[in-house]
Amino acid sequence: MLTKTIKDEKEFPKDSTIGSYWITTFGCQMNKADSERMAGTLEKMGYTKADEELQADLVLYNTCTIRDNAEQKVYSFLGRQAKRKHKTPSLKLVVAGCLAQQEGESLLRRVPELDLVMGPQHLNNLENLLGKVDAGNQVAATEETFISEDITNARRESSICGWVNIIYGCNERCSYCVVPSVRGKEQSRYPNAIKSEIQKLANDNFKEVTLLGQNIDAYGRDLPGTTKEGRKENTLTDLLYYIHDVEGIRRIRFATSHPRYFSKRLIQACYELDKVCEHFHIPFQSGNNEILKLMARGYTIDKYKRIIENIRSLMPNASITADAIVAFPGESEGQYRDTLKLISDIGFDQVMTAAYSPRPNTPAAIWHNQISEDVKKERLKEINELVEITSKKRNERYLDNIESILIEGLNPKKSSQIMGRTRTNRLTFVEIPNNSEFNFSLGDEIDVRINEARPFSLTGELCL
Ligand code: SAH
Ligand code: SF4
Ligand code: F3S
Repeated sequence: MLTKTIKDEKEFPKDSTIGSYWITTFGCQMNKADSERMAGTLEKMGYTKADEELQADLVLYNTCTIRDNAEQKVYSFLGRQAKRKHKTPSLKLVVAGCLAQQEGESLLRRVPELDLVMGPQHLNNLENLLGKVDAGNQVAATEETFISEDITNARRESSICGWVNIIYGCNERCSYCVVPSVRGKEQSRYPNAIKSEIQKLANDNFKEVTLLGQNIDAYGRDLPGTTKEGRKENTLTDLLYYIHDVEGIRRIRFATSHPRYFSKRLIQACYELDKVCEHFHIPFQSGNNEILKLMARGYTIDKYKRIIENIRSLMPNASITADAIVAFPGESEGQYRDTLKLISDIGFDQVMTAAYSPRPNTPAAIWHNQISEDVKKERLKEINELVEITSKKRNERYLDNIESILIEGLNPKKSSQIMGRTRTNRLTFVEIPNNSEFNFSLGDEIDVRINEARPFSLTGELCL
């Protein structure tokens, strides 16, 4: 029988409820991690999780604005809640995250039903801000601020795999990207604070951690400390060595990597350190050097290929995933084809693709050579077809292999199957043998023989 361990019940008493809450999270892993911390704060305050969004006393949208469609989605969700507020004036409506930061106070004018608009840097202050709302104010908290060490106990969705933020913000200036303006300047957390959080996760029986940052290789640039040789001491590589001995944690991952800073020393560390998994998410964005220059990415395709070669020379089975943008302003058919060619040449395990979307306060948004919507759609469709074929081909290399799967739960679509991941981050389903004496728990690692490969997942059978 698969037993689920429910955690933290005593830390989040349910008898003193002051209402129910609902959080919807849009966007990236960073937002998911932030939502878990905000849920922790709300539960500490005495809120309980609502069963349904439309019944909650407090609704919080943790928003994303990376592309226009992400932004529009938030507005449509907000419209529904704004209507509900007219019938139920006690409903508290909160918008947090990147769209909140982008729009600031103007969001209160656009959606006057809102009680609180708060940027990602104000997360630790949620309780205080809600106090002001309770006192009858409509509040906007979006000024740039120093993020103090996290004091909230996150209410984590998984009881096995934990997100750990190690660096906030981004100092890059990619010409298409809204993140630096909504997430602010890079701020690294101190290594000892990160290690204590991981230690706490290990004490709570978590088995896997994913270190998070928008540009994770920039970790430590803003921290003091250099070695005798004059090298910076607190890099991501140093951090991996430093946290590796936390007992109980079996897998360590990190994302997102920037090709400009991805060092040989980091690759060597990933190779040497047993717990660091062989999966690298390194967005390339375009397969053409001229477009990369216009994007202000700061590397060439040759440099990108060398990184992948270096990884594969030490870890031939590593999985490599990436992000790519098609139809960047001025991208010619030939330049777009270079991106397709790079995908075929490298043989990515997965590529997250998007058509370029102009964002407020970014240089590329006002260039005159924008690509038409029709061409965007065509390119996106074609690249997605290629990615699907490439991923399926890559996944076929697992067939007949025995892979170690960390059990994360049951397949939500088929409860006779366990769901977990390979070290390379491939989602894998395994039929639970019905006549067996098996007794395993979430967080166990099991050996599985892979017998089916699809573009996005694998299926296998338990090795008895
Ligand atoms: N920090 C990461 C990714 C951040 S945003 C990096 O540097 O790679 C996640 C992805 O969204 C990006 O990798 C990019 O592919 C995509 N993206 C960002 N801005 C975009 C825009 N304006 N239009 C379309 N896609 C965009
Ligand atoms: Fe955006 Fe570039 Fe920063 Fe990534 S590195 S978050 S794409 S500005
Ligand atoms: Fe979106 Fe903000 Fe993440 S814009 S992708 S939620 S950093």
